[in-house]
Amino acid sequence: MPAPAERDAVPPATGYQIRRLVETDAAEFQALRLLGLQESSQAFAASYEEEADTPMSAIAERLADPEAAVFGAFDPALIGVVGVYRQAKAKMRHHGHIWGMYVHPAARRRGVGRALVLEAVDFAATALRLRYLTLGVNVANRAAIDLYRSIGFVPIGVERDFLVVDGLFQDELHMRCDLPQGPGPSR
Ligand SMILES: CC(C)(COP(=O)(O)OP(=O)(O)OC[C@H]1O[C@@H](n2cnc3c(N)ncnc32)[C@H](O)[C@@H]1OP(=O)(O)O)[C@@H](O)C(=O)NCCC(=O)NCCS
Repeated sequence: MPAPAERDAVPPATGYQIRRLVETDAAEFQALRLLGLQESSQAFAASYEEEADTPMSAIAERLADPEAAVFGAFDPALIGVVGVYRQAKAKMRHHGHIWGMYVHPAARRRGVGRALVLEAVDFAATALRLRYLTLGVNVANRAAIDLYRSIGFVPIGVERDFLVVDGLFQDELHMRCDLPQGPGPSR
């Protein structure tokens, strides 16, 4: 089995390259993550203040988790990221969750976001062999909702007042994407 960084390399047909992040990417990942938490605070449940002091060792450990992955787009610096993980509880191990989708403002509308989510979905289906994926997105985030819909995520419900950002309630749209190869019991 090739190393994750090699396995996930995608030809740079559109000027950027996508691969799975590894432990040595921790600092670059954290810098982009913190930019996103500041620049697009309504898009994330996490806040800059909560994550700014996260030790690099904890970030590297997260990148090394075999039951999860963070994919990055490089041009040549890191310009976009998305994470995916398997739910840990024994009764929920057939599904996973997408988190932390972020593309640097200067790199948007080049297909980076879609390419990243497609890579995460492929990893969930083939490496983790999950049955389905979920994600949450602010109901006002039209760009992200359209992106997820174009990949096959469908709305499964709205949770009112899910976040409070800058003193204002934000509703969350929960979405789900069924995966083709996922094993599991019949209904
Ligand atoms: C949402 C985000 C990830 C999209 O990244 P991107 O690389 O610009 O997206 P893509 O170029 O791959 O676009 C894919 C599709 O998303 C939709 N989309 C993306 N940006 C859009 C915009 N500004 N307005 C409307 N639709 C948009 C379109 O349907 C687009 O498909 P098209 O180009 O064929 O029309 C990016 O805007 C971002 O990082 N936003 C801030 C953080 C965020 O909202 N994260 C999501 C948290 S759930």
